[in-house]
Amino acid sequence: MSIPQLETKRLRLRGFVAADIDAIASIYADPEVARFITMDGVPQSRLNAWKSMTNMMGHWALRGFGMWAVELKATQELIGFMGPHFPETWPGQEIGWAVARAHWGRGYATEGVRASLDYAFQTLRWPKVIHIINPANTRSISVAEKIGSTKQDVWTMGERELLIYGQSNPSA
Ligand SMILES: CC(C)(COP(=O)(O)OP(=O)(O)OC[C@H]1O[C@@H](n2cnc3c(N)ncnc32)[C@H](O)[C@@H]1OP(=O)(O)O)[C@@H](O)C(=O)NCCC(=O)NCCS
Repeated sequence: MSIPQLETKRLRLRGFVAADIDAIASIYADPEVARFITMDGVPQSRLNAWKSMTNMMGHWALRGFGMWAVELKATQELIGFMGPHFPETWPGQEIGWAVARAHWGRGYATEGVRASLDYAFQTLRWPKVIHIINPANTRSISVAEKIGSTKQDVWTMGERELLIYGQSNPSA
C-alpha cells in the first residue's frame, strides 16, 4: 500500500524502508527508550528491532493506518517513530511515539505528535485518541499534556499498571 506522508516545520513522517534498520535498532537498543516501549522493558536485539519495524509496516497493511518513521527534513536523519496504533487487545485507538535520545529536548516529539493527532481526528475521523503511558515516564506525560490530553484511566497489562491519557475529537 502507499503510505501517506505528513510534513511539519522540521519533520517528515513517512513509511519505513529496509535501510531504516540501523536507526531503529539503535533506538530499541537504548535502555532509556526500551524501558518504556517494549513488553519486557529491556534493550532489544537487532532482530527484535527489525520485527518491530515490520510490525509497524504490517499494521498499515492490516488497519489502513499505522506509525510513521520520523526524519529531520534538514538532514533526512531518522530520529524516531510515531502515529496511530491500534493492535488487537488494545484498550483504544492510540497515538504513540518514540524519539532517539540524542534528539530529546528539542520539541520534535510534540511537533510530530500534534501532526499525528490532526491526522487521526481529521483524516481517520477517530472520535477519541488514547496514549498508554508508564507512570514513571514523565517526558511522555508532558508530551501528552502539551497536545491537550488528560489522564482518563488506568490499564493493567500483565503485571504493569499503566496510565491512559487521551482526548476526544473536537469535530466529532
Ligand atoms: C517521550 C519522548 C518522545 C519525549 O521527548 P522530548 O524530546 O522530551 O519531548 P518534546 O519533543 O516535547 O520536547 C520537549 C522539550 O524540548 C524543548 N524544546 C527545545 N526546542 C523546542 C522547540 N522548538 N519546540 C518545542 N520544544 C522545544 C522543550 O523546552 C522541552 O524541554 P524539556 O526537556 O525541558 O522538557 C522521549 O522521551 C522518548 O522517546 N522516550 C522513550 C520512548 C517513550 O517513552 N515513548 C512513549 C511511550 S508512552
